[in-house]
Amino acid sequence: MTHALAKQAEAGAIEVADAAGDYVTDVDGSRYLDFAMGWCVGNLGWKHPEIEAAMQAFDGPTYVHPAYHYRPAEQLAERLLSFAPGKLRKVFRATGGTEAVELALQAAMLVTRRHGLLSLDDAYHGNSIGTLSIGSSELRDRAQAGLPRCHKIAGPFDARAAQRAESLLKKREIAAFIMEPVICNLGGIVPDAAFVSRLRALCRKYGTLFVADEVACGFGRSGRMFACEHFDLEPDILCVGKAITGGHAPMGATLMTARLGEKMEASGEFWSTYGWHPRSVCAAAATLDVFEERGEQLFENATTLGAHARERLTFMPFTCEVKVRGVGFIIGLELERAREAKRVKDKCRERGLLLASAGDETLQLFPSLTIDAKTLDRGLDIIESTVGAARGRSSGNWASSSTA
Ligand SMILES: Cc1ncc(COP(=O)(O)O)c(C=O)c1O
Repeated sequence: MTHALAKQAEAGAIEVADAAGDYVTDVDGSRYLDFAMGWCVGNLGWKHPEIEAAMQAFDGPTYVHPAYHYRPAEQLAERLLSFAPGKLRKVFRATGGTEAVELALQAAMLVTRRHGLLSLDDAYHGNSIGTLSIGSSELRDRAQAGLPRCHKIAGPFDARAAQRAESLLKKREIAAFIMEPVICNLGGIVPDAAFVSRLRALCRKYGTLFVADEVACGFGRSGRMFACEHFDLEPDILCVGKAITGGHAPMGATLMTARLGEKMEASGEFWSTYGWHPRSVCAAAATLDVFEERGEQLFENATTLGAHARERLTFMPFTCEVKVRGVGFIIGLELERAREAKRVKDKCRERGLLLASAGDETLQLFPSLTIDAKTLDRGLDIIESTVGAARGRSSGNWASSSTA
């Protein structure tokens, strides 16, 4: 390999040749059970037959000018709104999650005429200057992404954190508060419902817009179409991406209320040449067809099997203290021992199972919503034998706890 492409792959990463259902095959022909699913992209399993068929039958234009009409895109926007929580009425096109969040920040600043932003510390919302500035302080500083007036709320996300948020919000300088309703990027943290509803109320009180980032946790991953539903949360803006096309094409979207949408349409800047390319629109429409037909069944599968996975993980003999968290098929493991998350992930890969991770201490399991119990247990068996294999070599603490 020449390495002309900027390095991003982690050490030992596989080179993908194919992916279908719950499995990925690498260029050497090795087959892996996939619990990473492209980090919440393949929610319906890779190469979903119905999406695949729709893509093959696609006979639309291969390119349209962003200033021209494209009827299937209009129809998709309508359908997307019909799935969305709260009173969202307008959709803006994006090529991915980062751009979707950027549009949300822009709309919030435009409407409120404020420049402050508030987010959860250590969060991840993308890799542009704006989204890095509201993400983890460590990444922001390393990348020199220095958008000013970005404030962070440190965890735990409880009543005291809400109080700290209020002391900032009451200055009426914060345009938007943004969070993942279930925080995939912090190892599957399900925030306290009281924290979420308090922040929602505080945002209303002080004129700050509430942005729900469902780029990772949306499209059934939490056991509901959108994770907002777990909290009866009505955001002012909702950002989506990733699983919206199930990996068949790039796409993102920013959904907002009528008032915000009108203001954004009148004064905002949202040209996106490849935003909602007709092929992406085709893949997203086919994805929504699947959710329309079998959504409830898929959510039930994620809820039931997710609880089963957390239960099994809680009793596995890890070499250190482990917190097992999440809801539905957002499954997070926080391992207290340095580098243990990496060791488990690497070992599982060697044994044919792909896991996701964020940072050095957390592992995430994001199985497809379509997985069956037997296949899920096969993956869990690999994890169990991996953590168990280390047992003899360690005098670690075996206690596990669950916050699920
Ligand atoms: C919560 C969240 N928001 C935004 C993004 C950025 O999405 P993208 O990589 O499509 O730009 C990600 C990516 O992982 C994410 O997890």
